[in-house]
Amino acid sequence: MKESNLVKGLVKKDIYILGIETSCDDTCASVVKNGTAVLSSIISSQDEFHSKYGGIVPEIASRKHIEMIGIVIKEAVEAAGTGFNRIDAVSVTNRPGLIGSLLVGVGAAKAISYSRRIPLIAVNHLEAHLYSNMIENPAISSNFIGLIVSGGHTSLYYVDSEKNIKEIGHTLDDAAGEAYDKVARYLNLGYPGGPIIDKLSRKRNLSLIDLPRPMIDSGDFNFSFSGLKTSLIYKTKKDRNLLLKENIPSLAASFQRSIVDVLTSKTIRAAKEYGVENVLVSGGVAANSELRREFIKKGRENNLKIYFPPLHLCMDNAAMVACLGFYRFMEGKYNNLNIDVYSKSDI
Ligand code: KG4
Ligand code: ZN
Repeated sequence: MKESNLVKGLVKKDIYILGIETSCDDTCASVVKNGTAVLSSIISSQDEFHSKYGGIVPEIASRKHIEMIGIVIKEAVEAAGTGFNRIDAVSVTNRPGLIGSLLVGVGAAKAISYSRRIPLIAVNHLEAHLYSNMIENPAISSNFIGLIVSGGHTSLYYVDSEKNIKEIGHTLDDAAGEAYDKVARYLNLGYPGGPIIDKLSRKRNLSLIDLPRPMIDSGDFNFSFSGLKTSLIYKTKKDRNLLLKENIPSLAASFQRSIVDVLTSKTIRAAKEYGVENVLVSGGVAANSELRREFIKKGRENNLKIYFPPLHLCMDNAAMVACLGFYRFMEGKYNNLNIDVYSKSDI
């Protein structure tokens, strides 16, 4: 990274960042003003192309990104009303993610940076999820516990007062969203499974099936959700009546209850152990209605402030990438055009 001569505090004009996100299966572009005002956030979902496979097919994802990236960026800039002339920098996810998908977004960002002569800023997708909470709450940019729960990740972070991000726990197998998707596929409910199970669980009866709370008392901050899915499959194979249509909402509710119990309990314990009062939850599963309800309840009981992004910023989007890009821009942290893409995270 090279230092810029744009030192924080000297820049008095409004700053417009174009964010680009293609790490997985959504093609996203957004323009954000001053890190807080989302002027546009365009998301082209590929769900319909992957749903018949019950999960994301990387080759399809990158091909669809190529088809959509130009259209989505143009729409984001037009909807923001800025045109390209007012964009100060382009921020793009270059890690972690599917290599073929990342390459499409990064390629587009490099082309824009080069042709418009504006800085290029490469960001970590997980860090961007944490920043999705700062769009509406810019004051809490440090000293918090961050839980990222998505289809690809379930990780806990401690962000200290210097804004250093330290991973304190992660899933040892399936991510929470992945478990939702796999259980939904097993129950023939459709894809992505999270929102479907969330909705079904509202008509709940938790006594039909007893499922474990994996690693809830493990003493560390790691997670494991693969055994929970296996337990549900095992119990329903043993008692086929559980798979009767009228029982499916109860199965969904019990599965969701286990996930919510584990996520909230370990996150609250992390906040207490690290002595912070703010907890930021983000990622696709942060849209879950029961998770939000339970976090708010436990937060109140433990004198913690719990933050969630608005629903439209929980799942993958480019506004969070532009928001993080804004802070990088203000620190003068730019990247060169020779940046690469990486499948793994560096935090
Ligand atoms: O953050 P995201 O869009 O993509 C990744 O970075 O993975 O998260 C997608 C995941 C999917 O697994 C989806 O099933 C889950 O988020 N999800 C939900 C809900 N909405 C989306 N899980 C539980 N409840 C929801 N309401
Ligand atoms: Zn994500």
